[in-house]
Amino acid sequence: MRIRPRRNRYSEGIRGLVRETRLNVEQLIAPLFITQDASAKNAIKSLPEQFQLGRKELLSEVETSLELGLRSFVLFPAVAEEKKDTYASYSYADDNFYLHAAREIKEKFPEAVLMSDVAMDPYSSDGHDGLVENGQIDNDKSLPILSKMAVAQAQAGFDIIGPSDMMDGRVGHIRRELDHAGFPNTGIMAYTAKYASAFYGPFRDALESAPKGGDKKSYQMDPANSREALREMMLDEEEGADILMVKPALCYLDIISQLKNHSKLPIAAYNVSGEYAMLKAAAANGWLNEEAAMQEMLLSITRAGADIILTYFAKDYAKLLT
Ligand code: PBG
Repeated sequence: MRIRPRRNRYSEGIRGLVRETRLNVEQLIAPLFITQDASAKNAIKSLPEQFQLGRKELLSEVETSLELGLRSFVLFPAVAEEKKDTYASYSYADDNFYLHAAREIKEKFPEAVLMSDVAMDPYSSDGHDGLVENGQIDNDKSLPILSKMAVAQAQAGFDIIGPSDMMDGRVGHIRRELDHAGFPNTGIMAYTAKYASAFYGPFRDALESAPKGGDKKSYQMDPANSREALREMMLDEEEGADILMVKPALCYLDIISQLKNHSKLPIAAYNVSGEYAMLKAAAANGWLNEEAAMQEMLLSITRAGADIILTYFAKDYAKLLT
């Protein structure tokens, strides 16, 4: 035999030389859940080793992550039920603890990159990402609320705004309002292809943000569709998105690959709560090797085309690299 592919797999040194995909800690964004109770560190049942953090624990989590080279974070608020209303008005209220937390992190750790979440669900008494009127999600009436939330987040110091609501036209609306408010340099990472997925369950437990009625299928995408993701991609590009995201990641590697091939923008993928919980559960039972499976998952998402990964494994992966 003249040609033997195995020659390139002969030793770890040779495998390292020919390796096509590498994942650096700079490419990771760690999701963090924030709660109002200042000293809290509340376990989340369906998300082992993830917590609702009060401001003290949050600051120490950011500090230890930065020491590992992990410097990007996406923040989500766990809002008390009595603060929720139809219009999600707490999302841009002056006393909003989520906005205060972001401001405090940026004051203490200016090198941290903070990404927000724009959607009504954590603040809405209906638990939907847009405004519910007569049992319907009203797209156009949701837009000014989402933009107000985004401007408040930019004011608080978030570097990147993350609209996760899947309303039509929201990227353009938010871009315009950010510019009007004097935040031309605050970026937008659009949840471009966000699917109506069963893998968000643990996240909704973490925030107690599950819809009170119905489901999210009238705004999140049908898992059966891929060409529709390209349509969403074109719209988000035209509306001024800086980074495009696919969510979830593992069942949607083909979508990540398509967006990578069709867009010139950086592509992010969200390795969501259910994907994390699935591996944690298998590992806890001794059915999978957690470290090896985690590395394979994150590397595969990168190989598919993701430049950036949002993952609950971010800190574990960062530790492996040090
Ligand atoms: C809220 C939002 C969700 C997630 C991120 N932002 C849940 C949803 O759409 O119901 C899910 C993240 C995860 O599962 O890790 N709009």
